[in-house]
Amino acid sequence: ADSFDEECDYLFKAVLIGDSAVGKSNLLSRFARDEFHLDSKPTIGVEFAYRNVKVGDKLIKAQIWDTAGQERFRAITSSYYRGALGALLVYDITRRVTFENVRKWLRELRDFGNPDMVVVLVGNKSDLSHSREVKQDEGKDLAEAENLCFMETSALENVNVEEAFLEMINRIH
Ligand code: GTP
Ligand code: MG
Repeated sequence: ADSFDEECDYLFKAVLIGDSAVGKSNLLSRFARDEFHLDSKPTIGVEFAYRNVKVGDKLIKAQIWDTAGQERFRAITSSYYRGALGALLVYDITRRVTFENVRKWLRELRDFGNPDMVVVLVGNKSDLSHSREVKQDEGKDLAEAENLCFMETSALENVNVEEAFLEMINRIH
């Protein structure tokens, strides 16, 4: 174990979910390493990354899991959600179908996730406003109806990425 593990007050597991190509892996690489890849490949199986965050006077080690949006590349769902305290549920504001599938992802969360999980609904790719298919208010309304937090982000332009993850981490805490 590195020295941080010894000093760390809490270890949190959180997960990323949502349709393929909505930008889950790029949101995570932006948050964990400040990296963005225009040509990123679909995720196969499960990957994860860590980021250390200070909340008040506590040191939190956030362990964030990322899996494939494509069914055929997904790992066993129950182990993915096991122990997770938070989730970012991501759709792409330029592809309406990814927003319509949010309800499907919410069902999966209910089936496999901890009932107390903190969920942030994220409309990603806000930089592509010229090809927007989902209004910001639609995301906001759905989040309100489902009792979730909501944010629009751009992993490309690094807008609200930090805020979305920190909102989740702060609420877990
Ligand atoms: P799966 O692993 O298949 O589930 O996809 P994913 O949700 O991890 O998507 P990924 O992060 O691989 O991104 C898919 C594509 O969208 C890539 O070409 C990214 O460069 C692009 N992308 C991701 N985030 C943004 C964003 O905020 N703005 C724009 N314009 N493109 C983005
Ligand atoms: Mg991915």
